[in-house]
Amino acid sequence: MAIPEHFLAELRSRVGLVELVGRRVKLTRRGREHTGLCPFHNEKTPSFTVNEDKGFYHCFGCSAHGGAIDFVINTEGLSFPEAVERLAGEAGMEVPQSAPRDREAEERRKNLYDVMQIAADWFEGQLAGLAGDGARQYIEGRGLEAATVKRFHLGYAPVRRDLMKQTLLARGLEEAQLIEAGLLIAPEDGGDSYDRFRNRLMFPITDARDRVVAFGGRALGEQRAKYLNSPETPIFHKGDLLYNLANARQPARDDDTLVVVEGYMDVIALDQAGLPFAVAPLGTALTENQMAGLWRLVAEPALCFDGDAAGQRAAHRAAERALPLLQPGHSLKFIALPAGEDPDSLVRAKGTAAFTDLLAAAVPLSETLWRMQVEGKNLETPEQRAGLRKDLRAVVGEIADGTVRTYYGDHFKDRLEKAFAPSQGRRQSRAEGGFNRAGYNRNWRPGSGRRPLYAPPIPAHRGLGQGRDADTSSRERLLIAALLNHPDLIHEVFEEVGELRLSSPALDNIRTVIIEKATSGVPLDLEGLRNNFLSGGMADAATRLIAELTGPGIAHLDPLARPDTTLARAIKDWTSVFRWHRLEDLRRDLKAAEDDLGRDMTDEKQTRFLALKEAVDVATAEAVGFDDT
Ligand code: UTP
Ligand code: MN
Repeated sequence: MAIPEHFLAELRSRVGLVELVGRRVKLTRRGREHTGLCPFHNEKTPSFTVNEDKGFYHCFGCSAHGGAIDFVINTEGLSFPEAVERLAGEAGMEVPQSAPRDREAEERRKNLYDVMQIAADWFEGQLAGLAGDGARQYIEGRGLEAATVKRFHLGYAPVRRDLMKQTLLARGLEEAQLIEAGLLIAPEDGGDSYDRFRNRLMFPITDARDRVVAFGGRALGEQRAKYLNSPETPIFHKGDLLYNLANARQPARDDDTLVVVEGYMDVIALDQAGLPFAVAPLGTALTENQMAGLWRLVAEPALCFDGDAAGQRAAHRAAERALPLLQPGHSLKFIALPAGEDPDSLVRAKGTAAFTDLLAAAVPLSETLWRMQVEGKNLETPEQRAGLRKDLRAVVGEIADGTVRTYYGDHFKDRLEKAFAPSQGRRQSRAEGGFNRAGYNRNWRPGSGRRPLYAPPIPAHRGLGQGRDADTSSRERLLIAALLNHPDLIHEVFEEVGELRLSSPALDNIRTVIIEKATSGVPLDLEGLRNNFLSGGMADAATRLIAELTGPGIAHLDPLARPDTTLARAIKDWTSVFRWHRLEDLRRDLKAAEDDLGRDMTDEKQTRFLALKEAVDVATAEAVGFDDT
């Protein structure tokens, strides 16, 4: 359904964004903007901003960004057309239907919702009536209270082959509709259609807007399938839905807790036990869409699995599937149930606290992934340990978000070190000896030994001044000094030298000459280099600088700059320092772009900001990366 752009523009201008957002977020006016706590990530101080004039919201914490329609989509789990329809309804506008065919399809969908609601009411009536006697006994046997049965609109599909069909046809519904809704099965051989659900306890499945779109039916007799679900229909895509999501949404937000269980009965039993924030997929593994829906509600949904081997396998598959989807602040936790129990049997036998205890002890995703790789493995030999390291690296490689990937890389590196460290000794004392988690040795001083790999900005040297700028310029000097003292280095890091941003014009000049020499194939000799500057206006400054960077003074610089350092070592360290330098540059740009965006929220500025954010992610991963250690 294509909605004309002019209509959308009109809609956006009529919707009060502050009013709309304000229903969910407590907003405070600050100048031209309104700010509040971001509904898309957990935070304690407000970084979420709404600009009414521009019609945008933007979160400076998680970079969530969009207009009124996006806001409805992301907070209520609606599709684009549904969100438009909702907002249009509130604004007193009628969504234009672009083509008669679309209108027809839309009409049919609308009718399907009606059909499903009629069916749900009918099943509910059957449960309450004479035919529902056995089903009511079954429900009672499973410990469900009348109020729970009512809240979840449970129903009963009678035994007779076509009772629903005959009843609904008599009420004027069409056979074709009932087939399209998945309520009747039309045999392929052309025989009479008949009721899909027979002698089953019926669970209506609703979409994000709480409209009935499907059913799950539990066998009460000797049928083959214990649970039977509606087929896919124009209004039901099982991979997009979670059972009970519409009801669980508010409790999940209120308690910042969302639990994914396996079965309908588990959801219902938890709700009855006072835990109304449970949802279930519809008999399949969690899809990406479903995970995204969970993260719109809470930062760390908990997935609940059986304690048996099959349950663990399912947990592992879910953990792996989550990796490409992780975002800063978004993760999963895992609850392992005692073997042989499901949430329903657990709360029935042991009470609510038995489940909340498990919830409190939920295992973070990082721990689950670690255990997956370590458990059952022999890790005595160096080869076995190398194998583990490789496997962990592959796990980290699945993470798409650069920042999260970096932290996972660090995390597993730490754990590997700890796992294989002798109980006391070198590694331990190293860990206590001033290394922070990025591996940066705070106690390092020039001449005190090698910097650890991937050290962040070189600390300011004596004689080079203090503070951030001094750091930057001393790093620039170091990078150029290394190139001067290792004549072959330029050929190994040629592209990086081209990219290098230098704040000092004199250093920049030297860099240009180094590149020119390298491209023309002339070997880099210091004498020749000096001659290049003899005539130019920069001659004095450049000559002095070259002398400084190649003279005895370099003893004070990092070993990287000294001629006696091997080329291999120089390449590695030079690259490492370069990456930190570039990262700092990019971070400065990003900060400027975000400030700029804060002043004026245009799409263009948003695009630039997001592009830089991505670049910083990539550069961060490279600078501290797990990849190439
Ligand atoms: P379970 O077999 O764990 O059943 O299926 P349960 O939820 O504990 O049900 P009770 O307690 O025996 O009544 C978990 C979920 O898997 C799907 C259903 O969604 C069910 O809720 N399932 C199971 C099916 O779709 N078909 C089946 O035949 C079985
Ligand atoms: Mn069960």
